[in-house]
Amino acid sequence: MPKRRRIYEGKAKILYEGPEPGTLIQFFKDDATAFNKKKHEVIDGKGVLNNRISEHIFTHLNQIGIPTHFIRRLNMREQLIREVEIIPLEVVVRNVAAGSLSKRLGIAEGEVLPRSIIEFYYKKDELDDPMVSEEHITAFGWASPPEIDDMMSLAVRINDFLSGLFLGAGIRLVDFKIELGRLFEGDMMRIVLADEISPDSCRLWDIKTDEKMDKDRFRRDMGGMLEAYREVANRLGIMNENEPIRGKGPVLVSSNDD
Ligand code: TMP
Ligand code: ASP
Repeated sequence: MPKRRRIYEGKAKILYEGPEPGTLIQFFKDDATAFNKKKHEVIDGKGVLNNRISEHIFTHLNQIGIPTHFIRRLNMREQLIREVEIIPLEVVVRNVAAGSLSKRLGIAEGEVLPRSIIEFYYKKDELDDPMVSEEHITAFGWASPPEIDDMMSLAVRINDFLSGLFLGAGIRLVDFKIELGRLFEGDMMRIVLADEISPDSCRLWDIKTDEKMDKDRFRRDMGGMLEAYREVANRLGIMNENEPIRGKGPVLVSSNDD
């Protein structure tokens, strides 16, 4: 088999040339990194889980009309995606105080924010992805004012959808990070969701116990990362293709005749 051309390798994923022009293959690695790779481990099976969880989320987002780069999952570790021009920003949406917001502003982790907050970070490993404002983004030409508007409205829609999706699985969506890209179609360009959405890029807490079900388990040396990711997948109803479908069909709940 001819060797595929590798287009880009990041910390958790590799992008290969796709089968047709304008497509790429996104490969999910098992590498877990934090603090800009100062902490690095290989967690056997993480890539498979993130591929499945991200596929599930992107498929649903596509179905409700939120444009994404996702076309389809190809196998355990790969998905076919549209090639986009990645905007060099990480967009973080927060519903509950945690992580760097708690540290920066001295707000206790777990405090519900007065409203959802959107933040921008400049994607630059050498600088540890510094937080930037709309002023920086427009002055340095990373995105235009209408593109910022598009990114913010997509971020809000994604937050609403994901909050509901996870709530239905008994999980609180504390915060998450997304990346967006420009998709060129003829003379047209639109901003679409790119990258991945998985427990690597979200903070997910069990709704009853506040137990962490995301990459903080790795960042904070808590252990049980893979088990937590597996639990997220199970609760979202994503299961192994070889597993029998559970459920016994309809059950009569009540037969009151008045
Ligand atoms: P933070 O509290 O560390 O700023 O993280 C906010 C959210 O963004 C959290 O859900 C984790 C996610 N995140 C990433 O996906 N990649 C990163 O490089 C960082 C720093 C955070
Ligand atoms: N993804 C970043 C890294 O690899 C940071 C993080 O998620 O905490 O360092």
